Amino acid sequence: MSELLDRHHRVMGDHAPLFYEEPLTLCSGDGVWLKNLNGDRYLDLYNNVPCVGHANPRVVQNLAEQAATLNIHSRYLHEGVVTYVERLVGLHHDGIESAILGCSGTESTEMAITLARTVTGRRGIICTDATYHGNSSLVSRLSGLPVGVERSGVKSISTPQLFRPIANGLSETELLQKHLDQLEATIGSFADQGGFAGMMLCSILANEGLPNPPARWFAEATAMVKDAGGLIIADEVQAGFARSGSWWGYEVSDFTPDVVCMGKPMGNGFPVSAMAASHEMVTKFREAHRYFNTFASSPLQAAAGSAVLDEIIDRDLVHQVSDVGARLMTALTELQREHPQMGDVRGLGLFIGIDWVTPDTTNPDVVGAQRMVESLKSRFILLGKAGQHGNVLKIRPPLVFEDKHAELFVEAFKDCLIDS
Ligand SMILES: Cc1ncc(COP(=O)(O)O)c(C=O)c1O
Repeated sequence: MSELLDRHHRVMGDHAPLFYEEPLTLCSGDGVWLKNLNGDRYLDLYNNVPCVGHANPRVVQNLAEQAATLNIHSRYLHEGVVTYVERLVGLHHDGIESAILGCSGTESTEMAITLARTVTGRRGIICTDATYHGNSSLVSRLSGLPVGVERSGVKSISTPQLFRPIANGLSETELLQKHLDQLEATIGSFADQGGFAGMMLCSILANEGLPNPPARWFAEATAMVKDAGGLIIADEVQAGFARSGSWWGYEVSDFTPDVVCMGKPMGNGFPVSAMAASHEMVTKFREAHRYFNTFASSPLQAAAGSAVLDEIIDRDLVHQVSDVGARLMTALTELQREHPQMGDVRGLGLFIGIDWVTPDTTNPDVVGAQRMVESLKSRFILLGKAGQHGNVLKIRPPLVFEDKHAELFVEAFKDCLIDS
């Protein structure tokens, strides 16, 4: 193992990120299970990309058959590609009519920002101050952007949240108003700086640590953006494809986006992403940018993407995620009563965050959260951390996770709580 680790660092660079104090060497996967070189089985509560399960037979078969038949780029007509995109946009609300496929979430968010600027003829983009939408030079301007700082036409607003509110002693309604006032001022501040083009939001504030915003924040904030002539871009790269117990995160968060970005789970690990909007907006984008990506819109992408849609629909995973997730949430909330280090338990469907704190405070306990991650790993359970402070335990298993898996997890979690 350490020999492989040395070689890894030598060829990948010393800071190539790896999880865990002792990194895990995996060799196979099946459904919600991963296996290491010794044959130990780990229950996967982390990986959202293999959404319909590791090594899903239908995805594998579709890919193999298509690879053995034809794979070409997007400058030829192909029935499978057109049908896939028709199905994809058909899963959204009526305003989402056309899509451009890409190979990464970053590509989809980058296209969306460029589209918003092209369509509105304005420049200003707003995001939250604890977000992540990708790593290109354009999109990384949205990462770690403090409120009040302007970075090449991008500004942030405070992440809306009840657990660690931006001001103490306010009612939920007053807190909502404070956030809306800040948004209004931020939109206004673009007036003499290229104008306001739109706001990009993860529909469930995933990288922010899944905070619960004040009630109606999504509805009111998105209405304010639209009133100001801006576009709402929903980043569904993490939130989409049944993760929240609905097809799309924006459905549970109760807003209607103009543009949608999709990625991670789309191809169950085969790179597929998409930026979708009205036909008119996509046409304007295409006219202005002549967008092309060698590997996107291929029959192979369509084969993987179609198999994922078929699996989600045929196995009724939207309802399964909602039901299993609700029961897991109840079990964790019950544990929270006895364990004050579980400061806040929140989330939707099979995306649950546990905000780990110094007991009886809201102070983030990053070390304690990391100890839980390591302790669970020693009991063959894999999960991770997320959030503004890196202290939120991130429970985000493949969608095919069932009650029996949740029970295994809760038992192991209780043991770790006793040890922590
Ligand atoms: C919400 C969100 N948007 C976009 C991205 C970027 O996706 P990718 O890594 O495929 O470029 C990520 C990646 O973690 C993400 O979490």
